[in-house]
Amino acid sequence: MENLELVIDLHQHGDRQGPGGKSETERAITLASLDTSQHLKIADLGCGTGASTLCLANKLNADIIAVDFIPEFIEILRRNAEASNLSQHIHPKAGSMDDLEFINNELDVIWSEGAIYNIGFEQGINYWREFLKPKGVLAVSEITWLTDHRPDEIQAYWDAQYPEINTASSKIKLLEEAGYALLGYFVLPERCWLDNYYHPLQQRFAEFLDRHSNSDDAQDLVEAEKQEIQVFEQFKAYFSYGFYIASKLP
Ligand SMILES: C[S@@+](CC[C@H](N)C(=O)[O-])C[C@H]1O[C@@H](n2cnc3c(N)ncnc32)[C@H](O)[C@@H]1O
Repeated sequence: MENLELVIDLHQHGDRQGPGGKSETERAITLASLDTSQHLKIADLGCGTGASTLCLANKLNADIIAVDFIPEFIEILRRNAEASNLSQHIHPKAGSMDDLEFINNELDVIWSEGAIYNIGFEQGINYWREFLKPKGVLAVSEITWLTDHRPDEIQAYWDAQYPEINTASSKIKLLEEAGYALLGYFVLPERCWLDNYYHPLQQRFAEFLDRHSNSDDAQDLVEAEKQEIQVFEQFKAYFSYGFYIASKLP
């Protein structure tokens, strides 16, 4: 089995595919100060199986185009939307966040939780901006340094994983330079990583290894996930996801 297929199999059974939480999505919705009297058009980019999409659809009067490049995740979201009676508001679509089919000034909101890193924060905020209406809202969570100084070990780890990691002040500066005004910012608390993401993932390891007859590739994937969790446990004082909410300047 290809490694991507294993990654999909390990992650598709989770409620979410990265750190986050329902109350944090709701907090970002509040900070966005959206006009709830209006019908909104929202894109949720890198939606995974749709934890944030379902929350947005429950809270807002909106049509949500939910995009992820893994068709298996999109299919699960489609089923979950049907089961929640939200399928008339949720439009799942397999596709890439760096090749979108929206037209300029089409969207009221672009949402993306734990996913913009796939194309890089700077590229993402600049590319997506054209699809937002003037004063439209961008809400993204992005890996962020919590301190100005940090141990060499964690610096080297993230330099290898995602060299665009930076402090909130640097990310906010990039948003301002790209033509956004900050509406709000907060840090995802530890429970978004542990209770909502890593602990459920750990509970799936044994079944996953059984399903794949303890193949070398399956064991390697589980080891890599365990190592990621250990890095978080050891260095969580220094990094988290920052949630950035900003509006497009006309
Ligand atoms: C860390 S997961 C977060 C998923 C979801 N937003 C959540 O919070 O549970 C990142 C997601 O981005 C998706 N992804 C990666 N590269 C992508 C791309 N180029 N276009 C669209 N989705 C992508 C992955 O398939 C995955 O579902």
